[in-house]
Amino acid sequence: MRVSIKFVIPVIVLIILLTGFFIYNTMLQEEGVPEGEEAPPAEQPSELGDYTPKGVHISFIEDPRYEVVIIWVTKDKTETSVVSLTLPDGSVENYTGESVQYNDRYWHIVRITGLTPDTEYKYRVGDPSLEMSKEFVFRTAPDEIVPFTFTAYGDQGITSYASLAVERALEYEPSLHLHLGDLSYGGAKVSQWIKWFTIIEPLASKSPYMYAIGNHEYDGTGDLTDIKTYFEAPNDETNYGFIWSNVYFLTVDLGPSSSNPASQELISWVESKLIEAANNPLVQWIVVYLHYPPYSSGKAHGSSPAAQPLIPLFDKYGVDLVLAGHEHNYERTYPIRNDMVVSFNSTLYSGIEGTIYIVAGGGGGGLYKEFQSPSPEWSYYRAAEYSILVVSVDGGVMEVKAVNSQTGEIMDSFIIKKGERVSTKSYIDSELDIQLNSTYNIMMLMLTVSLSIAIHRILMAKRISRYN
Ligand SMILES: [Fe+2]
Repeated sequence: MRVSIKFVIPVIVLIILLTGFFIYNTMLQEEGVPEGEEAPPAEQPSELGDYTPKGVHISFIEDPRYEVVIIWVTKDKTETSVVSLTLPDGSVENYTGESVQYNDRYWHIVRITGLTPDTEYKYRVGDPSLEMSKEFVFRTAPDEIVPFTFTAYGDQGITSYASLAVERALEYEPSLHLHLGDLSYGGAKVSQWIKWFTIIEPLASKSPYMYAIGNHEYDGTGDLTDIKTYFEAPNDETNYGFIWSNVYFLTVDLGPSSSNPASQELISWVESKLIEAANNPLVQWIVVYLHYPPYSSGKAHGSSPAAQPLIPLFDKYGVDLVLAGHEHNYERTYPIRNDMVVSFNSTLYSGIEGTIYIVAGGGGGGLYKEFQSPSPEWSYYRAAEYSILVVSVDGGVMEVKAVNSQTGEIMDSFIIKKGERVSTKSYIDSELDIQLNSTYNIMMLMLTVSLSIAIHRILMAKRISRYN
C-alpha cells in the first residue's frame, strides 16, 4: 500500500506536537506549579521549635568530689532535660533533671551525685527525642591532695577580649575557674546573658565555673534572681566556701554598693568559715575571692570601703590570697598584715608572711587605665591589660601568674613556699581520723571528770570520818 507523502508529514508534525505538550505538562505537574499560580510557601522551620542546648556550664552544690550540676538553656520548651553521662566503664547512663522558664527561655538543670572522685566523665545534654548537644567532658575533684591549677578573672562581658580570656584560661587546663564578679553585664537582657554563656562554654562546660557576686549581678531584678536561676552554687549561692585538694576557697557577696561596709552578720559568717578552714588539718591554703578589692590603687574605684571590715579577719586567720575585680586592670600587693607590708620580696615568699591581694579585673570589660600617683607602698605591680590569673598549687608550693590575654605573655608571677608538703592522704581517712580523735577526746574528758568526782568523794569521806 502506498501512503501519500501529503498524509505522512502532517501526522509526524502532530506526533511531535503532542509529545512536546505531554513532556511540558509532566514537568509542570512534577514542579507542582499550576500554570498562572505561585508556589505555596514552604513550611517554616520556626514551627519546629529551637531546642538547641546553649551555654552549657557546670558547678556543684555540696561536694565537687562526688557531684556535678550541669545547666544549659534552650529557646523553646523541651519534654525532658537529660544529661547522657558516659561512666568510667564506658557505659552510658541518662540523668533527668528539670527546667524552669525564666526571661522567655528554658533553663535546664541536672544534678548528678554519687560520682567517683578525680574521674573524667564525658557527657551530652538535651532532650533525646528532640536534640542533644555535642560531647563535653569534665573531671571531678580529687579526694587526695594532688597538684592542680585554677584560673580567675573578673569583669568580663561579651567583648572579643572576653573570648580571649577564655581561650587563654583553657591553655592552662584549669581544674576549676573563679569568676571575680561582674559576669555578663546583661542585667535583665537575657540575649546578652546567652551570648556570654556561649563565650564561656568551652571553659565552663569543662571546669566548675564558680563566681563571686559583683555589683552588676544586681542589675537585673535587683535581688540576684537572674544569676540564681542561671547558676547553682553552695550555701545561699552568694556566700559560700568549698575545699579543692588542700585549698579552702571562700567567696563573699558585699552587695550592690562598694561603699557600704560589710554587715556585722556577714563579718561573723566569714569569721566562722575562716575558723573552720584554719582548724581543718587538710587545709593548707586559704583563698578568698570577692568582687570589691580591699586594696587597689586604681583611680576608678580604688580600695573598697565595703571590704575593709574583712581585712582584720584575713590577717587573723592567715588568708594567703585575696582575689578581686571591680577595677578593670591588674594589681598585686606585697604581703600585708595589720595594714603594713610584711616583706618587700617580689617573687618568692616563704611561710605565711601576710596576705597578698590581687585585682584581676581585666577579664574583658573596658580597661580602667589610670592609677593613683605616686603608687602606694603596698602596691608591687600594676598594669592596665586584659589578663587572667593562673594559680598552680602543688602541696606546700603555690605559684601565681598573671597572663596577658592578648599576647600570652606572663606579666607578673610569684611563688609562696610553706615548707613541708602536706602528706598525701585521702580525705575519707582524714575525716575518719578527725572523728576518731573527737571520740577519743570525749572519752578522755569523761574519764577525767569521773576520776575527779571519785577523788573528791574519797577526800570528803575521809574528812567526814575524821570529824566523826
Ligand atoms: Fe564592678
